[in-house]
Amino acid sequence: MIKASVIGGTGYMGFELLRILSRHPKVELCEVTSRSSAGKKIAQVYPALGRIIDKEYVPEIAHPEESDVVFVAAPHGSSMEIVPSLLSAGCRVIDLSGDYRLGNAMEYERWYGKRHTDPANLSKAVYGLTELNRNEIKHAQLVANPGCYPTGALLALIPLAWSNAISGDVIIDSKSGTSGAGATPGEFTHHPAVAANVMPYKVGTHRHLPEIENVLRQISSKVGEVSFTPHLVPIVRGIQTSCYVRISPDADFEGIMKHYHVFAENNKFVRLVDGVPRLPSVIGSNYCDVALMRVSRSLVSAFSAIDNLCKGGSGQAVQNMNVMFGLDESTGLESPGLGV
Ligand SMILES: NC(=O)c1ccc[n+]([C@@H]2O[C@H](COP(=O)([O-])OP(=O)(O)OC[C@H]3O[C@@H](n4cnc5c(N)ncnc54)[C@H](OP(=O)(O)O)[C@@H]3O)[C@@H](O)[C@H]2O)c1
Repeated sequence: MIKASVIGGTGYMGFELLRILSRHPKVELCEVTSRSSAGKKIAQVYPALGRIIDKEYVPEIAHPEESDVVFVAAPHGSSMEIVPSLLSAGCRVIDLSGDYRLGNAMEYERWYGKRHTDPANLSKAVYGLTELNRNEIKHAQLVANPGCYPTGALLALIPLAWSNAISGDVIIDSKSGTSGAGATPGEFTHHPAVAANVMPYKVGTHRHLPEIENVLRQISSKVGEVSFTPHLVPIVRGIQTSCYVRISPDADFEGIMKHYHVFAENNKFVRLVDGVPRLPSVIGSNYCDVALMRVSRSLVSAFSAIDNLCKGGSGQAVQNMNVMFGLDESTGLESPGLGV
């Protein structure tokens, strides 16, 4: 059995991790932290886990050496304070924050507005988009789990980038449910602010933009400027992404579609759908539904739908754990979406 601990077990990512890990046949749950709820039963905070997990939160991991893997589901900025000691204790770490996703400390400082305090491990971390970096993830001691928006955008765009057909700017428009902002209530996630609204935010400045750009540029030198506009919509879970991309007018669309078919065939959690992806099909699951449409000779639209808490975070983290420990990638992750 894999001994797994969770830091940040009262957050939305923490809850989703516990929901998935509690049914994982190869995982034994060790310590689950929360500083504010230490001593409380997990099921007191999340009644959905009543009769399923009978454990109390602890304020911090007391015995890191007893865990094979630790999921760090804390806010960015705090992860990089926690991760070094876990690595020194010999744990493998999957960090769900943005602290280890960007290539270097300078880029981190530019986008996150603070100095990186663990640059040595930053350069060793493997970017955990499973479908892209499976071989590196297998041997990694530290995996930087991708952001929720980059997961949806990249799974929609990677086959297009591989086809080498992109010949200009990439415009990414994502709509997210409010659970993406975490469990702490905020001005913009307050019910009256979102309930009858579709709200663009952090236009051109969102921290997930460099993550998306870095990956696309590694794959294709023909990617022009990348624009990313996230929106909040009045749902709890889910991200629907629409990408508008210029391709060369003589691009062979059938050839591009072949890349999408191969990508979906090789990756259990990527499903190529007819029409447009529907959020209800993926909510509660680790699937990412993807579609591509040609809208004119030189424009295509790529779409994806994911559950931000699952494939966009905790589900993908467990998928990465499965890869790291040599299990079938889908172990514990086979639930279908809710569907309706
Ligand atoms: N929500 C999403 O859709 C999503 C998707 C992908 C990635 N992420 C990332 O995953 C991480 C967690 O997100 P979330 O949405 O679950 O946030 P959240 O709901 O705000 O939860 C944060 C958790 O971290 C704990 N925490 C806060 N400060 C801490 C510290 N200094 N040391 C240790 N624990 C601390 C909190 O509990 P206590 O304060 O009680 O300790 C809480 O359990 C974030 O970095 C986020 O960016 C989120």
